[in-house]
Amino acid sequence: MSLWGGRFTGEIDQFFAAYNASFRFDRRLIFADLQACAVHARALGRAGVLSESEVESIVTGLARITTLVGEPGYLDRPEFAAVEDVHSFIEGRLVELIGPTGFKLHTGRSRNDQVAVATRLFLRGEIDQLLDNLRGTRTALLDLADQYRDVPFPGYTHLQKAQPVLFAHYLLAYFQMLSRDAARLAEIRHRVNILPLGSGALAGTNFPVDREWMAAELGFEGVTRNSLDAVSDRDYVIEFTHAAALTMMHLSRLAEDFIIYATQEFGFIKLGDKISTGSSLMPQKKNPDSLELIRGKAARVYGHHAALLTLAKGLPLAYNKDFQEDKEALFDTLDTVNASLIVTTTVLRNVELDVARTAAAAISDYTNATDLADYLVRRGLEFRKAHDVVGRIVVHAIGRGVELAQLSLDELRQFSPLIEADLFTAISLEQSLAGKSQIGGTAPVRVAAELERARQSLAVADESVS
Ligand code: ARG
Repeated sequence: MSLWGGRFTGEIDQFFAAYNASFRFDRRLIFADLQACAVHARALGRAGVLSESEVESIVTGLARITTLVGEPGYLDRPEFAAVEDVHSFIEGRLVELIGPTGFKLHTGRSRNDQVAVATRLFLRGEIDQLLDNLRGTRTALLDLADQYRDVPFPGYTHLQKAQPVLFAHYLLAYFQMLSRDAARLAEIRHRVNILPLGSGALAGTNFPVDREWMAAELGFEGVTRNSLDAVSDRDYVIEFTHAAALTMMHLSRLAEDFIIYATQEFGFIKLGDKISTGSSLMPQKKNPDSLELIRGKAARVYGHHAALLTLAKGLPLAYNKDFQEDKEALFDTLDTVNASLIVTTTVLRNVELDVARTAAAAISDYTNATDLADYLVRRGLEFRKAHDVVGRIVVHAIGRGVELAQLSLDELRQFSPLIEADLFTAISLEQSLAGKSQIGGTAPVRVAAELERARQSLAVADESVS
């Protein structure tokens, strides 16, 4: 039985009925919806709208539905194929189980506040799950950083070799990004965690349900303050997909880096068999499909975010059926970002660094030129002049086909008499790294301290991460 038949004399078009139906996807909200239904029933009891025995019967019926729904395949039964949505499913089953008392559950409630409360409850749980997966990826980054703790790595700007860094420092950059993602999600969770139930269809409810009591029962941190806003607000979905899009952007950038580093040309990392695939034609190939898919799936999450912004932008207050379209975007965002985090974690646990190659790459192609300029500055030369002198030394070295450290002292002194024999230590890989010991720099002592700090940050709640 539909939830709204009385006003109608004719039948719904069957194709439109299927188009209108959302049960095939919004069934995912069922446990959250059932939980909120039970609290609503009890609130109606406390308000004197339902008798104690009616509340008892409804709550028992809802618990029975919860058990049934937990059975594998239950929701796929053919008799449920034509159900309109998760809300009508629950009411339908309830009436079957407990009789007409089940019809009383919807007193003082609309599907508009019902779907909002179910979505918020559901999303709250999903955010906690996502935070766990983020934690897994962050842990894997730290484990890999620990494994190659002091290994030098070439740092790039414009994808041109720039200065040496530690590989651990490089990985900690991604740790920072994912930590911000976690903090962002923890913050969004507060705004998700507000009770809209009691807003009715749009104007509030005539029945004296204690909204603050319902909020406390469901673990919400507060109640919405305006019924029109409460049923038409999807900000919490949109800011969630925004956060998810940022996470995907971070994973995609890491993926892109690793794809480049795994090429024969770079050869810095080897991807394990667990995360690679082959070619159907070229027998020698080993392709980074895992990383390419992470990069590709970022596009899909961006798409959902853009779709939701567009969905909401032109809607008059308050509820409009357009909102039903938020579900698949939200669910697919959740599935995609969770899976991408899990695959990223697996990738991080299945890469091998070519330590000799990265160390050599870190100190070749004049990556120590800035250290040479800084040396001249310490000797009293203005930085701009030092920059110019070193530029000319680099041109000279390129001409001879050697690195800066392979030039003789005499040769170097022709460019500046400030250069002494200690220059060679100053432009060594060790010193280039060790010199950058301020907070945020790549010196091994600093990176070790940051690694420690990062480990500690994983031990505390995501809300306090900074
Ligand atoms: N299935 C709808 C949604 O996801 C909720 C139902 C509200 N429907 C309505 N006709 N007021 O938004």
